[in-house]
Amino acid sequence: MSNVLRLAIVDPNDASRSSLKATLMGLDIVWLEAECSRYAFFGDVLAQTNPDVAIVAMDGDANQAIELVENISHTHANVTVLVASSSTDGNLILRSMRAGAKEFLTLPIKPEDLATALQRVAKLRFGNQAGSQKGCRVLAVSGSTGGVGSTSLAVNLGCALAADEKNSVVLLDLDLALGDADVFLDTIPEYTLTDVAQNVTRLDFTLLKRSLTKHSSGLYLLPRPVQLEDAQMVTAEDLQRVIGLLKATFTHLIIDTSKSFSAIDLMALDLADDVLMITQLDLPCLRNVVRLMMSFDHRPGLREKLKIIVNRVGQGGASISIKKAQDTLGQEIYWQIPNDFRTMIEVRNNGVPLLEQAPKAAITHSVCQLADALAGKTDPNSTSTEAGGKSRSWLGLWSGKKADPSSAATR
Ligand SMILES: Nc1ncnc2c1ncn2[C@@H]1O[C@H](COP(=O)(O)OP(=O)(O)OP(=O)(O)O)[C@@H](O)[C@H]1O
Ligand SMILES: [Mg+2]
Repeated sequence: MSNVLRLAIVDPNDASRSSLKATLMGLDIVWLEAECSRYAFFGDVLAQTNPDVAIVAMDGDANQAIELVENISHTHANVTVLVASSSTDGNLILRSMRAGAKEFLTLPIKPEDLATALQRVAKLRFGNQAGSQKGCRVLAVSGSTGGVGSTSLAVNLGCALAADEKNSVVLLDLDLALGDADVFLDTIPEYTLTDVAQNVTRLDFTLLKRSLTKHSSGLYLLPRPVQLEDAQMVTAEDLQRVIGLLKATFTHLIIDTSKSFSAIDLMALDLADDVLMITQLDLPCLRNVVRLMMSFDHRPGLREKLKIIVNRVGQGGASISIKKAQDTLGQEIYWQIPNDFRTMIEVRNNGVPLLEQAPKAAITHSVCQLADALAGKTDPNSTSTEAGGKSRSWLGLWSGKKADPSSAATR
């Protein structure tokens, strides 16, 4: 679980509760676990949901609210209580603090005041790195043309990240029509993105995890809808909420986008911390990367987080050199993944990830090193040759014992 505060709120006033909810939805560091409109039922809500923080709005009935704060402090000592009121009466503030409230928030609440108060709570709970360290790293994986290897990378990167027990990793298949991440993981999921999107307001952490398919590698999958028509039921707004919920639950979210660069694909790219653009060293692919980069320039911040990954390096034929590709793109190649047709076809046909199918293969090593580089564990440049971006660690293995060239050619 990432460093996200799970919250429950009680406010008998529907209007102020909705406004508090809306403010909370905008904050990255929280997830609203439960809401309640009656002081009398809030104890049960806390017992069922066990949140980190309880926010008690006091305007409904100040005396009842203070009594409730006192009760929570006694019966749920691990829950941090924040109170909120439109009154700034010193006596009320004092009484609520004596009852056990840690913060007094003035209504209508300013988002920055709420964020600061919650950051203080997060620091107390998770230590100093809370707030400075982002809860969840979102990696969008896109391809510069069909069949370039984006799903292969998204799935295997997910498995490589999930191999570190400190990580909790989920893969979202956003190729709503033809996505095949479930095939790569040999799973028949019970629920899909459509189910989760339609129920997102009712889901909590536990229900969400139950709706996802967990692979033996530790990677969770939220697959594309089963029926083609169901894809249309996923709106950008739904998707934003699903991504918010996944971010609040996992340390890493990997999004395998479609090649249509639709509104929801672009929204995913906007929400991502890193956009991995998979390409191969041929003219149509590189030309598309240039075109995409030009479009990305119109979306603030997108170009800066773009990392170009060249897949199937060494597949021979009329490949363009890495140097020429970099010159054409005007951007460094962030990572190179070797061509290994035989291993990759086995991985796909057997529905088994690289780490399991071919743990010692150079391609597996390359994907694992990419996971480390993205996590900041290794500097991609420190393992590069002067020729630019070629990872030594796999180069040593791969250039000598490259996958059988005949298999590489039998595409
Ligand atoms: N490094 C590689 N070496 C050899 N073959 C590869 C490599 N990466 C992927 N492939 C093969 O390329 C094919 C396409 O891969 P994949 O489905 O991951 O691409 P994609 O970009 O997701 O395709 P789509 O456009 O259908 O979503 C698969 O057969 C896969 O095994
Ligand atoms: Mg794909």
